[in-house]
Amino acid sequence: MNSFIDGLMKKMTMDEKIGQLNLPGSGDIVTGQASSSDIGKKIREGKVGGLFNIKGVEKIRAVQEVAVTQSRLKIPLIFGMDVIHGYQTVFPIPLGLSATWDMKLIEQSARIAAVEATADGICWNFSPMVDISRDPRWGRVSEGNGEDPYLGSQIARAMVRGYQGKDIALNNTMMACVKHFALYGASEAGRDYNTTDMSRIRMFNEYLPPYKAAVDEGVGSVMASFNEVEGIPATANKWLMTDLLRTQWGFNGFVVTDYTAINEMVTHGIGDLNTVSALALKAGVDMDMVGEGFLTTLSQSLKEGKITQKQIDAACRRILVAKYKLGLFEDPFRYCDINRAKTEIFTAAHRKVAREIAAQSFVLLKNQQNILPLKKAGTVAVIGPLADNKENMPGTWSVAADFTKATSVLTGLKEVVGGQVKFLYAKGSNLDADSLFEERATMFGKSLRRDSRPADIILKEAIDIASQSDVILAVLGESAEMNGESSSRSDISIPKIQQDLLKALLKTGKPVVLVLFTGRPLTLTWEDKNVPTILNVWFGGTETGYAVADVVFGDVNPSGKLSATFPQNVGQVPLYYNHKNTGRPLPEGRWFQKFLTNYLDVSNDPLYPFGYGLSYTNFTYSDIKINSATAKGNQKVNASVTVTNSGKYTGKEVVQLYIRDVVGTVTRPVKELKGFQKIELKPGESRTISFDITTGDLKFYNNDLKYDWEPGEFQIMIGGNSRDVKSVKINWVK
Ligand code: BGC
Repeated sequence: MNSFIDGLMKKMTMDEKIGQLNLPGSGDIVTGQASSSDIGKKIREGKVGGLFNIKGVEKIRAVQEVAVTQSRLKIPLIFGMDVIHGYQTVFPIPLGLSATWDMKLIEQSARIAAVEATADGICWNFSPMVDISRDPRWGRVSEGNGEDPYLGSQIARAMVRGYQGKDIALNNTMMACVKHFALYGASEAGRDYNTTDMSRIRMFNEYLPPYKAAVDEGVGSVMASFNEVEGIPATANKWLMTDLLRTQWGFNGFVVTDYTAINEMVTHGIGDLNTVSALALKAGVDMDMVGEGFLTTLSQSLKEGKITQKQIDAACRRILVAKYKLGLFEDPFRYCDINRAKTEIFTAAHRKVAREIAAQSFVLLKNQQNILPLKKAGTVAVIGPLADNKENMPGTWSVAADFTKATSVLTGLKEVVGGQVKFLYAKGSNLDADSLFEERATMFGKSLRRDSRPADIILKEAIDIASQSDVILAVLGESAEMNGESSSRSDISIPKIQQDLLKALLKTGKPVVLVLFTGRPLTLTWEDKNVPTILNVWFGGTETGYAVADVVFGDVNPSGKLSATFPQNVGQVPLYYNHKNTGRPLPEGRWFQKFLTNYLDVSNDPLYPFGYGLSYTNFTYSDIKINSATAKGNQKVNASVTVTNSGKYTGKEVVQLYIRDVVGTVTRPVKELKGFQKIELKPGESRTISFDITTGDLKFYNNDLKYDWEPGEFQIMIGGNSRDVKSVKINWVK
């Protein structure tokens, strides 16, 4: 590889090298116009390194043809896409995927995404997104894995494995791109693209681990984030992109910017386009997405001595290495097999897995009087703006989805149990009373077909229908585009008009099940108090409708657990389980005590804690058994509990291990997730679940950013969520 690339680089002009660093926005290329388009011209001139979000193997093949037959050096292009949670077979949004706590399934979803995307010409994926976020106002919490660095790290690894496989040169594996490096999820006030600022100790312990996990798993590329880090936009942050990423972590792939992020640094206020482009290159950024700052300024900067030839060579080499590793020099059409495109996309086998994963991602938040599962009999009213809609089922960032192939809740229910159950449907309300809000929240072809009749007529129709039923499924919440990029909300409740619908449905006196669509933790305090049953289904992907039927009618017992805390109200945000104790903690279960850390108007408790989720059955936990209450040096401690399924259904449970380091040289969180096991138990069955704890589980970054453990007392906690845990203390000496 090295001698091949050396040889190639010797032939390249400086402009051709800079051309490799360019990832222009081509838009979707019209079939048959690859060569005649503007992009075609640039490719011929050697000014393009790759393209992204072009959909369709024929189009990609045609563009690649231009590169390898009409450009001087015939260097193949790399083709990227945002295949965030599946390609055409769409899986739950990442926040939903993370609620499965099932690494095998998550890896399998990524594997299937890679098979489908590579069958359609894509060899580079702008995923996984691993930004930790504690702020549900931020719309992009839907794209990530929640608030926890440990869970987030496991998922980062699983996704990289799924996309890249053991060999990225195979024609059904693709290069992953971990993003958005770094700290993007900590934007102030949850407003997208906003400033972030935090101490390094917090970064290292709480926000950076998932990116590092992806690097340790061998991720091929990294995307820089839009935000600033310590006052310097990530895209020009040399400490981040070189000192940390490459020197400390040993990353040897390439770094791409986010969309026009170089140009945006002019607006951030750190210089003109020439300056910021040079800064980005010098920081260690290799490829410029869309803005063409590199393409249009670097040769000038080189002449002026602002950058060196060595810096351009290093970036160019990294791009060429990636192409080489993908096998593109050997066969530029490796990912352009038209037959694969016909046979390996949206297959019955893939959809079956997607249906299973969707059902596993659902979180049962409340199930009073065991209303769920429903009997397969009688009449069910299916009411709500999301009940009969395909387009929103895949959720945000589903670039490759064919919405017409997604299954709505109503269709899924009818197809799965229509023979036994009679379904009645009415919309009941629009998404929001404000049509302008609805427009903003239904972009990218995700219309909810706004009903123009007066709200009271729409509501009355639904109540009439609901009155004829035995049970009501209220299918409502957020639309797909109420979360995702640039979809921050300052109010994270269900829109009022839908709450009014819910109230009216409850008034009928019939049992009501809220089937909740959301891409973020919502404030559901009123719903929790008043609605007997709440099943959170996130956005389950193309197979959502079937999965809802599977769970609602009991063919699948829900087992999803929250990967992000649900607050009681938005004023509590940021609210997360692994917080510090402070000097004035409020005892658990209390509300207010003067001069302690609390609020006058709301308790400190979350509505639903991290790790929480119910089942149709019940699990009971024994006390924790430990093999020794003291440990020394590199000994292991074994902690176990016996979990019993004390209910009537076979079910899955995520047994969670948390540790608290009671005393440290720096303050430590009140608990941190350190392990989990997802198990399945039959009614009456018990199983002993054991965790081996090592000093590796005790390590953290101290005030010198040294990663080590400190001796002393540790609290070991095991339970079915982060709040309800059994606990023992151990003492660990050096
Ligand atoms: C997003 C990235 C995405 C890129 C390319 C940006 O707006 O922040 O997550 O990969 O667009 O589509």
